Amino acid sequence: MKIRFTETVLRDANQSLIATRMPITEFEKILPALNKAGYYSLECWGGATFDACLRYLNEDPWERLRRVNAACRDTKLQMLLRGQNLLGYKHYPDDMVRLFVKKCVENGIDVIRIFDALNDLRNVEVATAAALEAGATVQGTICYTISPIHDLDSYVETAMGWKKLGAQYICIKDMAGIMSPKQAYDIVKAVKEAVGLPVAVHTHATTGLAFMTYLKAVEAGADVIDTAISSFSGGTAQPATETLQYVLREYGYETGLNDEKLKEINRYFKAYRTKCLANGTLNPIVMATDTDALTYQIPGGMLSNLVAQLTAQDKLDELPDVLAEVPNVRKDLGYPPLVTPMSQMVGVQATSNVLYGRYKNISKEIKAYVRGEYGRAPGPISEELKKMILGDEEPITCRYADLLEPIVEKTRKELGGLARSDEDVLSYIAFPAQAEAFLKAREESRKKTVRYTIQAID
Ligand code: CO
Repeated sequence: MKIRFTETVLRDANQSLIATRMPITEFEKILPALNKAGYYSLECWGGATFDACLRYLNEDPWERLRRVNAACRDTKLQMLLRGQNLLGYKHYPDDMVRLFVKKCVENGIDVIRIFDALNDLRNVEVATAAALEAGATVQGTICYTISPIHDLDSYVETAMGWKKLGAQYICIKDMAGIMSPKQAYDIVKAVKEAVGLPVAVHTHATTGLAFMTYLKAVEAGADVIDTAISSFSGGTAQPATETLQYVLREYGYETGLNDEKLKEINRYFKAYRTKCLANGTLNPIVMATDTDALTYQIPGGMLSNLVAQLTAQDKLDELPDVLAEVPNVRKDLGYPPLVTPMSQMVGVQATSNVLYGRYKNISKEIKAYVRGEYGRAPGPISEELKKMILGDEEPITCRYADLLEPIVEKTRKELGGLARSDEDVLSYIAFPAQAEAFLKAREESRKKTVRYTIQAID
């Protein structure tokens, strides 16, 4: 019996515990040990890494990927990709999706875990085809959520859809840490029986379920689990790598993990954690167990966003009403899973409904969603809301990206000399403001170097 591990310290644990603020200079030294630890893969890119590199860390995200790749020749590098949204929050045209995925693989990604927030597989078709063509392994992802319309059959149907698209793995993704051991067991078993592909399971330790959930998932036949090295584990991140390997090895599973390397990695990140606690990057609260997510069935990160939004408006006493409104908004929208970008959209709308009256203000994202710009809602959207937003207009029923004009060539021309590579063009399309600032700063520092060189010749 075998069980393999995906280490999340560089991506999801980094994202969940310290809002992706770990610069490459803080983890580059430990890459050789991560490379030799025996993981199935090292999740190191995607999700918020791209945005955070450009926005907060003054790092070229592509350069980060190349450096990780250069140091990790023995372990697969993995990324998370939001389907037609790529690493952003809206749908991109197909030419952008194709080139982006191709460049991810060229720069070092081996495994791409692809998801769509609505489990609408039309939104993952192009990214999946591009990933397979580039030679990557595709983990076709099912976003787990609890709702009256999501059941075992619906998950199996999504998994079958993924198999048709050519995915080599199915990933069951519980972004909120609310999948119970029983649900994990049932879903893994049903999916494995129905599609026969290896299954990876992703959860968060937020509510305290995760260790039990993984144990039962493995019992049901899961092939890969996502964990984080213990010093960067727990709370809103993944449960600890070492603990799970200890338990699973006792049950006779071969994990392939190297204990000495794990110790070394843990020591390294323990020192970094101390630093993060001291400078406030890591708030100890996020490492604690919090069962609120079970009560409200919303991801922990969404809860902290709501608290932040309300605090900023000096309305924190409205929190219970906002939390009660979240399920109503979700129902009106046809029960979208609460994952980026839907979690943010639903949270903002619920807050606005409570503070200013139900649907008195409707965000442009929610309008776009109701028009069909994010894909097919899992369940029916409230007729009342449709009327309010669409009037007599018909919603879009085709794949939204079919309506988008190609963008890559046009942007390349616009950027001219500022972009030095396709990667620069892609960064700019994905995050125009942040990328422009980054590219201009790079240009400035290059000019300075040139000036200095000239002076030096004098
Ligand atoms: Co996650």
